[in-house]
Amino acid sequence: MAESLIAASVPERADAAVQRDAKLRHVVESQQFTVPLLMELFDRTAGMERVVARGGSLDFRSKIMATLFYAPSTRTRFSFEAAMHRLGGSVLSTEHAHAFSSAVEGEQLEDTIRIIGGYCDVIVLRPVEEGGAKRAAQVSPVPLINAGDGDGGQHPTQALLDLYTIFRERPLNGLRVAIIGELDRGRTARSLAYLLAKFDRVKLFFVSPPELRMRRDILDYLDEHDIDYEIEQEIDRVIGEVDVVYQTRIHPDRASNAEMVRRYAIDSSVLQRMKSDALILHPLPRTVELDRSVDDDPRAMYFRQARNGLFVRMALLTMLLE
Ligand code: CP
Repeated sequence: MAESLIAASVPERADAAVQRDAKLRHVVESQQFTVPLLMELFDRTAGMERVVARGGSLDFRSKIMATLFYAPSTRTRFSFEAAMHRLGGSVLSTEHAHAFSSAVEGEQLEDTIRIIGGYCDVIVLRPVEEGGAKRAAQVSPVPLINAGDGDGGQHPTQALLDLYTIFRERPLNGLRVAIIGELDRGRTARSLAYLLAKFDRVKLFFVSPPELRMRRDILDYLDEHDIDYEIEQEIDRVIGEVDVVYQTRIHPDRASNAEMVRRYAIDSSVLQRMKSDALILHPLPRTVELDRSVDDDPRAMYFRQARNGLFVRMALLTMLLE
């Protein structure tokens, strides 16, 4: 893996050196990341894989991270917390923050952030409402990381680990990517589209039922940045020609019927129509849209993708806290 990582990043490393002073303060949305910043993050991420293999470090033993989750999470919260532990730091945590914090008493998010920011060095926040992370960052005295805001907001650290997973396998320039599912409210799909738009000759295929299609703000951004894209309703129109299949859930309450969800599912028959070297990603959790028969296929990347979340989030913490 290290060889392909170096080969893929060499041309962009020079740029990274020039712009290394473009320091991150908060991580709220994917558009914040330039290609040089992404390459710096990915260099650090490769280093974090080695740190974990050695059993971790004690570099952050004086650092404290607070994770404040108003909405449920398995991967994002656990991987951030594992990341801080692997770096030698400490974690203050609440999930169900709407019930297990003073939100119960009606405390506003801004006040909570100001208070918690006085106790820690970085806050990882999953608010319920879209735009909640931006509001929180505006008042946070310490770096604040958006761990996924609302249904139609963004999930930038998910997109970073998605992109890293692709980057380990493929050059990012020239990629053809199908993003499938409930795209209008898909915060992972939205954040990934913004990141992919940073690269040359990328082509995106947004595949969804018409009523769940990608929202105009993303399409406008792609238009402004001269990124080629197509809106499709049928998986079969694109599945054989893409390098990456990014599958996402369609929540049952958004589907008109079970047949709609099945039409967008990936199973062994869809596998047969994909390129032999395509990559299959999914932010997880999954339901029926990604059949378990896909798991043993060498193109299935989603468990590795979730594992990469640990390394990427470690690297991100070092960029914010060093
Ligand atoms: N992909 C993702 O955000 O998963 P969690 O909701 O489990 O954090």
